This record gives sequence, C-alpha cells and structure tokens, in this order.
Amino acid sequence: MPEHAWSLVLNGDPAVVSGLSPQTTLLEYLRVERGLTGTKEGCAEGDCGACTVVLAEPDGLGRLAWKPINACIRLLPSVAGKAIFTVESLASPDGALHPVQRALVECHGSQCGFCTPGFVMSLFGLYKNANHPSREGVDDALSGNLCRCTGYRPILAAAERMYELEPAPGWRGAGVAADGSRQVSREEERLAAHLAAIADSGGLEYQAEGQTWFAPRTLGKLAAICVARPTARIVAGATDVGLWVTKQHRDLGDLIYVGDCAGLRAIRDTDAALEIGAGASLEDAFAALDGEWPELREAWLRFASVPIRNSGTLGGNVANGSPIGDSMPALIALAATVLLRHGESTRELPLEDFYLAYQQTALMPGELIVSIRVPRRPEGMLLRAYKISKRFDQDISAVFVCFALTLRDERIVAVRIGCGGVAPVPKRAATTEALLVGRPWDDAAAAAAATALANEFTPLSDMRASADYRRRVLGNLMQRFRHETSGSPHVTRIHDPRMTVAT
Ligand code: FES
Ligand code: FES
Repeated sequence: MPEHAWSLVLNGDPAVVSGLSPQTTLLEYLRVERGLTGTKEGCAEGDCGACTVVLAEPDGLGRLAWKPINACIRLLPSVAGKAIFTVESLASPDGALHPVQRALVECHGSQCGFCTPGFVMSLFGLYKNANHPSREGVDDALSGNLCRCTGYRPILAAAERMYELEPAPGWRGAGVAADGSRQVSREEERLAAHLAAIADSGGLEYQAEGQTWFAPRTLGKLAAICVARPTARIVAGATDVGLWVTKQHRDLGDLIYVGDCAGLRAIRDTDAALEIGAGASLEDAFAALDGEWPELREAWLRFASVPIRNSGTLGGNVANGSPIGDSMPALIALAATVLLRHGESTRELPLEDFYLAYQQTALMPGELIVSIRVPRRPEGMLLRAYKISKRFDQDISAVFVCFALTLRDERIVAVRIGCGGVAPVPKRAATTEALLVGRPWDDAAAAAAATALANEFTPLSDMRASADYRRRVLGNLMQRFRHETSGSPHVTRIHDPRMTVAT
C-alpha cells in the first residue's frame, strides 16, 4: 500500500515528511519547510558546496557512517530513515560552538559567510572521519567547497586547528581517536540502533502530488517493480537527475530509488572479479578499485568532490552513458562487464557493447543494472588514466583516456584503450589496439600508436576543446603513457601529492 508519510532524523530529532512531491530536493525541504536557512543555495548543481549537510546512516557494524552530501540535488525521500545534520545543529545546546566552528573563527576563515556553513559541514564530516589528516586529505575533503572571498589558507588552517580544541560532547564529538581507533559515543550508538531498526522495517512506497517513490530494500522486489513500472525512472544519488529538477524544472514522474536496496550496494571480491553493485556509492566503488588498480586514483579524485562521491553511484554513472563521463573509459580499459536483470532473467554484456548511440544504451524497458564486474588484474599490466579538463579538479573532461597494456616476455599480449570525449559514446580504440598487439613495447610502437590514436575518432568541437585539440591530445597522451611506463626519468605530470603513482 502506498504511504503518504515517512520519517527521518533531523538534527537529532524525529521529523515526519508528508505531502511533498518525491522530487522535492533536500535543500528545498530544509530551507522552505523547516526554516533551516543556514544551509545555502549557490549553484544548485552540486559544484559549490554552499548546501553541504552531513548524512549519517548505519555502517553495518553498529556505528554510523558520516557523509557530507550536497542537499541541493539530493531528492528528499532518499534520506528517509537516515539522519541529516545541518549547520544549526553543531553548536551545543548551551550555545558553545563546535570545535570546527571555533577553529574557523580563530583562524579568520570567513568573510561574507555565504560559503561558510558548507565549509563547516565538510569540515565536520572530516572531523568525524579522520584525526589530523594529511594536507592531501584536507584538500580532498574541501574539494567540493568554493569560497569567492576569504581565500583558502585560513580555512586550511582551521582544518588543523579544530583537532587541537576541546572536543565536543556526544554525537558531535570526534569519531576517530589520535591512535586511529573509531570512537562512538553512547548517543551515537543509540542513533545507529534506531536507524538500523528503520532500515529493517521494509521498503518505502511514498505517494504525493501525483508521483510515487518506490524504494525497495531487496533485489527481487526492485527487479519486480522495474518490470511492473517500465516507464518509471530509476534513480540513485541523483547527482545528474537532481539538475533536471533544479535547472530544467522537469517533471520526473514516478521514481524507483535503488539506494536502499542492500543487494545493489554490495561490493564483492571473488577469485575472478571485483563485483561492484550498481548502487554502491562512487566513494565506496573507488575505494574498492584502489586496492588492485591504484593508478586510477588520480582520475577518481578529480572525478568529483567528496559530497558528490558520497551520493553518486558507479551504476548511475555507467547507466547515464555520457560520452564525457569518466568512469566508463577506465572500466572499458579494465575489460569490465555489466550484469543486467529483467525480472528473474539476467544477462552480462561487455561494457563497451552497452553503449549503442548517443544517450542510448542496451537497457531494455524494465531492465536494470545489477553490478559492474571488473576482472582480476593480469600479471604484467601497465595502466594509466588521463583526464584533460580546463580546471584541474571537478571539471568535465575534454578528453579522458585509459590505457591498459599487458606485457609478457617484453611483448604486448593484450591492450585495451578506453576513450571519452571523442565520440558520441565511451569507446574502445580498436584500431590502435590491433596495431599494438604482438609488438615490443618500445618508442617505435608508441609513436605508431600515437599517430593511429590521433586519427581513430572524429571528435566534435565544443566549448571544452576543438576537434583538432582532442585528436592531438590523444596522440600526446599515448606518448605520455610510453614515457611513464618506460622507466624514463621525464616528469610528465603536475605534482600533486594526492596523486603520486609508483612506476
Ligand atoms: Fe552549490 Fe549545492 S548549491 S553545491
Ligand atoms: Fe564569502 Fe566564502 S566567505 S564566499
């Protein structure tokens, strides 16, 4: 039976939502319905961080996972049964500022103040998840927050200072001790138990303003709903769909939310593959991929900010099929496959075959992506991914290319090159690959491959890059790949300590 109300925990207190369309954003709810105007709207598209709040949900180990997210593009019912904390909740009931806030005051980390609540909440997320992180960790935590007037030095200083101040009591306190152990207050334990009980209580089917939000908790139920409602839109973190609401004012119709389905969020390691559930967050998926393919870390860090990585999913990025999405070229180079399900039937496709034409995939009506399988890394694989964009962090790629080349006895026995930004869909560079197989991996092979790759596609010119630039950069990146994997002492990348890759 459809329900007309559901609940969350807001700033530590229960809150019931009813009568609001399922495509209401979390930011709209906080500001308009709850009067919590500390959370700001800047860009309304997940870029500036002014709307950052912290979501807490059970981590499966009896504790809470604390995750900064962008409220502006998060669809409201996706936080049903979870806890949301806004900047209004950080000061103690007696008015004492949280260490994060005090540090920002002491370090003069705010001028006009518009960005400040977002920085406070990103720093609060860091405070809960790390103790004295490295500068690189701080940079990453704040990569989704923009400030137009203070400048970042005082804010970075506050990120160090906050750990030197008297800790806040209860759930506001630090989550990680100086020795790296997790700390959980009694208050946090109680909240975790409360949210876990809600999570066990079955899925949500919420109706308001003529729209229905389906949020099943089992894969079987999810697959059945997709078959029964083939025109309903499947949604996960809404890091793209959210913009259809805030920028295009589109009516999304009925929505099937996959983020509460535990089976779809699972990440499994098997002898043959790493299998990443389509509903796993980008943050969890990238962390899993780091273990075996650390060379991709640079691409993942530049892909999106922490709040976007906490909401967005790998399955969502793959399903979106954007020709300028960054995960697909890398996954294609790793020979990933997608597992699809329609009702009780499943099928598996190589990822490159999933994309048929611009914004057109092989998904049939009622079918959903269950997981992405990445086969185990072969011995002798050389791997690099390169993102070319106007801005270094969090920008849309002009070109993205990933090379995976396997050597045996000094010869290339397999090669896969995944490319983005150069065709209507993410593509393998099949002609260039064929030219390389069987050759020794030397400068001559790289030069021939560079020429072939520069001529393999017919890219477009747009505001990100001209067609000629894209072609030329493809060839140059092949040469760069050669330099980086040949033992050459040439420095071929901007040094960012977050992204140091052993060669
Ligand atoms: Fe800019 Fe949400 S308002 S990220
Ligand atoms: Fe003004 Fe950051 S203090 S935008």
